[in-house]
Amino acid sequence: MSSGMSRRSFAKVAAGASLGVVAGGCSRTEPPASQTQANQPGSRLSPAREFPTGFYWGTATSAYQIEGAWNEDGKGESIWDRFAHTPGKIKNNDTGDVANDHYHRYKDDVALMKGFGANAYRFSISWPRIFPEGTGTPNTRGLDFYSRLVDELLKAGIAPFPTLYHWDLPQALQDKGGWQSRDTAKAFGDYAGYVAERLSDRVRHFFTINEFRSFVDMGHHGKEVLVPGGTMTIALAPGLRLTAAELNRVRHHAVLAHGMAVQAIRAKGKAGTNVGPAEVMECSVPLIEAPEHIQAAQTATREANAPFLTVMLEGKYTDAYLKNAGADAPKFTDEDLNIIGSPLDFVGINVYRPISYVLASDQGGGWHEIPFAKAHPTMANSWLTVSPEVMYWAPKLVQSLWGAKEIHITENGCASDDVVTPEGKVYDTDRIMFLRACLTQLQRATAEGVPVKGYFHWSTMDNFEWINGFGDRFGLVRVDFKTQERSPKMSASLFRECAALNGVA
Ligand code: BG6
Repeated sequence: MSSGMSRRSFAKVAAGASLGVVAGGCSRTEPPASQTQANQPGSRLSPAREFPTGFYWGTATSAYQIEGAWNEDGKGESIWDRFAHTPGKIKNNDTGDVANDHYHRYKDDVALMKGFGANAYRFSISWPRIFPEGTGTPNTRGLDFYSRLVDELLKAGIAPFPTLYHWDLPQALQDKGGWQSRDTAKAFGDYAGYVAERLSDRVRHFFTINEFRSFVDMGHHGKEVLVPGGTMTIALAPGLRLTAAELNRVRHHAVLAHGMAVQAIRAKGKAGTNVGPAEVMECSVPLIEAPEHIQAAQTATREANAPFLTVMLEGKYTDAYLKNAGADAPKFTDEDLNIIGSPLDFVGINVYRPISYVLASDQGGGWHEIPFAKAHPTMANSWLTVSPEVMYWAPKLVQSLWGAKEIHITENGCASDDVVTPEGKVYDTDRIMFLRACLTQLQRATAEGVPVKGYFHWSTMDNFEWINGFGDRFGLVRVDFKTQERSPKMSASLFRECAALNGVA
């Protein structure tokens, strides 16, 4: 265990908050009754497969990927509207203009979630719906949509977990420099405070930003991702190719924005409002579970997350990160670091795959990265190496490195080459295998006392998968994008079983 890494203490969660008890006492979002019954003696679930009582079983989506209504009710343009409207950027030139038409069909979608037993839902709020210009006069019709959605969720017994930024920056801010400008961080804090002030009477948990690393690195430089047999490059909106120094500056502004949002939510939200990030954690997994390799994985993970999770949870950049960046390192003040390291209520991590396996080494930082073997299995996406043990190690390392008291798996899932039978069924055996394997590893973590309080499957339903357009289907529910018909896949049945039993079915 590295010294000094667990110094950051997490703010205590108010009593009752972990069950999602809503302030004001009118609506409660506790686990379904069946969940608690399933834990009684005589349950057909072995105790060795159970999750802790009160566990959140949720699914996740994001605004641009499902809402559509891209220019309705006063919404401003986002960088994803602009990017998708630029020919050649997205597979088949698909756009999120209509997407799942969730903006108009949200009631049906909440009913679907209730149908597959979810007791929590992670969605994102579109910043340009609330502030069409990024700052200035808010658009109350935009806020009203999320207010109605929250009410509908609570009515269905589903706890709302909104994310304030899932990559759809107002284009007006991009035109002023976007994340290269420090002003964007300040604008994000103001927007977060505005939303918290208006929704925290019913919303108990807010995520600040989704996947810092993805939108920063892939959006401002393009990022090489290790896949079996080599690498692949992914580029997202706004599609820039910045220098290393500029990129580090954008990274700094992103974590600063997170810290400003945490402080604004604390200042403007109701007492007991919980806040944390939702980062795609770069997790190194020990290839062999022996103490020296576990130590190596921990050290490697801390360094791999230096510009994002590590600085947010430790309030400082690691020496190695600053040394490696040299003259390209971000310029910052102590005050910046205090803001970035603002105490959190929980840590959200998106966990799909490890960045690599590692073994201990006498060289370098103490670890040796082992590339994925060429024949290492992947899911339908070549980047998604099948390594379910990451679902054990990611939360485990968040606990051991930073002493987190509450962790949420904010995303996990896979695309599948879904085939519809003549009867209209999707038997997605690959997704079922993936989900069960991941939950098995997650349960292993909770059984050891790792404080994971919720699991959010990506995704609720097939949606607009960024540069892959409507090509990649990640949903538990199939969507026919011509008719907008929704039909739950077999994996939704597995999810329902797990949620009802509060364990791995
Ligand atoms: C995460 C994102 O990176 O993974 C989601 O937070 C995304 O928005 C999901 O849809 C799947 O990734 P991709 O790159 O295959 O679309």
